[in-house]
Amino acid sequence: MVTETTDRLVRAASLEELRAERTKVISAEGRTIVLFYTEDDRVYAVDNRCPHMGFPLRRGTVKDGILTCHWHHAKFELAGGSTFDPFADDVASFRVEIRDGDVFVDPHPIEEDRRGHWSRKLDEGLEQNLRLLMAKSVVGLAELDATGDILERAALFGARNRASGWADGLSIMTAMANVLPVLREDDRPKALYHGVVNVARNVQGQPPDFDLEPLTTEEQRPEVYRAWFRRFIETRSQAAAERCLRTAIQAGLSNEQVADMIFAAGTDHLFMDTGHTIDFANKACELLDHIGWDHAADILPSLIPGLVRAERMEESSAWVHPVNLPLLLRDANTALDEALTAGKERDTSWDAHRAVAESILDDEPADSLATIVNAARDGAPLVQLAAAVAYAAARRPVHFHISNEFGDWDTVHHTFTYTNAVDQAMRRAPSRDLARGILDGAMSVYLERFLNLPKQPTPSPSGSGADSDTILGEFDRQQRVDETAQAVADMLAAGKHEEVIETLGHALLREDAGFHQFQIYEAALRQYGNFQGRPEGDHILIGAARFLTAHAPTVRASGQTYQIALRLNRGEALHEDA
Ligand code: FES
Repeated sequence: MVTETTDRLVRAASLEELRAERTKVISAEGRTIVLFYTEDDRVYAVDNRCPHMGFPLRRGTVKDGILTCHWHHAKFELAGGSTFDPFADDVASFRVEIRDGDVFVDPHPIEEDRRGHWSRKLDEGLEQNLRLLMAKSVVGLAELDATGDILERAALFGARNRASGWADGLSIMTAMANVLPVLREDDRPKALYHGVVNVARNVQGQPPDFDLEPLTTEEQRPEVYRAWFRRFIETRSQAAAERCLRTAIQAGLSNEQVADMIFAAGTDHLFMDTGHTIDFANKACELLDHIGWDHAADILPSLIPGLVRAERMEESSAWVHPVNLPLLLRDANTALDEALTAGKERDTSWDAHRAVAESILDDEPADSLATIVNAARDGAPLVQLAAAVAYAAARRPVHFHISNEFGDWDTVHHTFTYTNAVDQAMRRAPSRDLARGILDGAMSVYLERFLNLPKQPTPSPSGSGADSDTILGEFDRQQRVDETAQAVADMLAAGKHEEVIETLGHALLREDAGFHQFQIYEAALRQYGNFQGRPEGDHILIGAARFLTAHAPTVRASGQTYQIALRLNRGEALHEDA
């Protein structure tokens, strides 16, 4: 019990009393502080809540200046509060003064630099793969409006410490950074937390990356670097490709020129690595949009291991038998060259996306390719053709019948995220080479036609009055795919688009979601942006909702960890009664 306050100091006890009792808990300024009288006649004060899980430290053991928590035995140096056990985080410590036989405590923690503290703890969490520490750091930094610190630290950590390069964690983190503005406010730090823990997961146990030096050269021509880079990716020459890319960045090529080099190499073969190659490349550029392109030399070389290793789909049976798609694509690309050079101005009002998509979904592959080429000949901009193919890909999960094998959700997912990546890349760094990805994406949609047989119809509005709780309730039960789609369709018919987007984000972040769930949510929002206000936009959201709910519910352990971090950060008493 506090009895007296002097300036910032609070009288806690008489020295005699503390010497006799050895420990005392007081409350001051909303904090619960525990004082310890040690065997060498010193007095220390620390937060009574263990920073690990909130159990009361008054139950801990003090010996040789070390406080050991009674629960998971984390050890703290009493004078400063630093932990010997990184999983626990440091405990806040408080200045103590003895005046005239009384013990006074300053109830403001000694360490003032919260941003520096949480940044250091985020680094430790990433290095040691400690989820609770990462959650607390993300919550702490987000509260300080330091979201940029989170992204930058985790991005550089993920890119520098994984010799095998860019992995799904960096994509998840970037995807979540992209969607932050449309999420519920209290879901935003959680979205970053999901990204950060997946970056740490990718790095754990991996050898670090060591940079190669750029070449010493006067070469400045973008077309030369572009040609070199494509040659080295083609021949799977990883070191040469890295030196080429680093030199191009050092030589001052623009962001667009650097992105173009990578996108060209990433579409030199068909649907590389089931679409991951171009998707990762696009995400790396988006990550640089967030943390700054001055980090290009830190981030972009991490793409090279994936580029040189990528499976090339012209080598896969499905792309060659029974229809030789590489041959069809070769002819279509020749026709597209001719269509683009026919002289017709690009028609920026072109909006026949639906007709092109229906052809891709249902026609023979040669006919679909001809439809795309003819649209280009009529003036359709390449970026709109990319959007049309992405819309076609988004329709596959809308019509995906749940009698299919569960794993085939991933098949339709891969094509959708690939086509979204081609669309986004085309907006960033358009090129004729990248346009090959439009045609490749259309053929991947074609290959998945059997997953829409039987074809699940698009749900019609039923006037059910469904709301967010309806959707979240469906996510609590397994395989409520069609029921969720119906609820989403009803909300969209009622004009509740923002609520649907927020709710799907909330549902996603409640789960122990995997890479594909994060990807499809973000890609769906990107493509929804292309078709907002049109029925196509609604279809895209319905398809994403079906995919997400097919993968729910999980045990939601990740959210439990996050919740503990949140409550610790708020200063809530988690285990005061213990
Ligand atoms: S070590 Fe203190 S609560 Fe876990």
